[in-house]
Amino acid sequence: AFVVTEACVRCKYTDCVSVCPVDCFHEGPNFLVIDPDGCIDCGVCVPECPIGAIFDAADLPPDQLEFIEINARLATEWPVITDAREPLPDAETWAEVKDKREFLEE
Ligand code: SF4
Ligand code: F3S
Repeated sequence: AFVVTEACVRCKYTDCVSVCPVDCFHEGPNFLVIDPDGCIDCGVCVPECPIGAIFDAADLPPDQLEFIEINARLATEWPVITDAREPLPDAETWAEVKDKREFLEE
């Protein structure tokens, strides 16, 4: 399955959502996750994210491995999102920031 990683935190551009053929994105307060049981590995969401937050689980950067578990767990708790929305208000500022894991609101 594909995985949303740390870069999405406090940005949530949502461009990824509108292209997913199986509606497997789920939305939290300041992050999205992919339901690994729904994802069909098509990969079309990857180039849609303006900050490159989505990876194949098999190609995850080593410091993002934690996000496999985070996506799987939060996909069971958060509602499905099927349409793109406005990014979060400070998305452009947060897009430049590394190490945002601590800000992920569950
Ligand atoms: Fe949806 Fe395809 Fe992205 Fe999986 S890889 S989340 S099925 S768009
Ligand atoms: Fe997040 Fe990128 Fe989608 S910032 S909401 S993974 S377009």
